[in-house]
Amino acid sequence: MFSSLKSKVTTIVQDESFGSTRKMQLICDLLRNEIPYYNWVGFYFKNGDKRELKLGPYAGAPTDHTIIPFGKGICGQVAESNENFVVPDVEAQDNYIACSITVKSEIVVPMFKNGENIGQIDIDSDTPDPFSKEDELFLEFVNQQVAGIL
Ligand code: SME
Repeated sequence: MFSSLKSKVTTIVQDESFGSTRKMQLICDLLRNEIPYYNWVGFYFKNGDKRELKLGPYAGAPTDHTIIPFGKGICGQVAESNENFVVPDVEAQDNYIACSITVKSEIVVPMFKNGENIGQIDIDSDTPDPFSKEDELFLEFVNQQVAGIL
């Protein structure tokens, strides 16, 4: 599944007929449509010079959490740790921001450009404990591709 998705992501990224925001939107839609346990897929980016994240393109239910301060929630923690954060069970997390009561698990993978943590991809799942190392590697690939067009 991930190898065919990687080539689809590459095709989107290389398409010269639309810009980076539209490409990120298409990637969100692709991942949400093709991976059954990816129920919400979105990008957050550092908001200018502020120590906060701002929601970018996403696919899934609209969220109130369009701005997340560094350190808050899973996303805000990844903004500071620079490391992947896999949450098999969101109820076991104290520092967690709930977007929907249906969400059972989450994965957040930071995005780097020129060695700097510029944002992240965030996946919410309604399935408990669905994420493996393959998801991490795939999402790292997606972020590398996206960082290349930013
Ligand atoms: N659950 C995230 C907040 C973002 S929503 O999942 C879209 C967190 O704890 O940071």
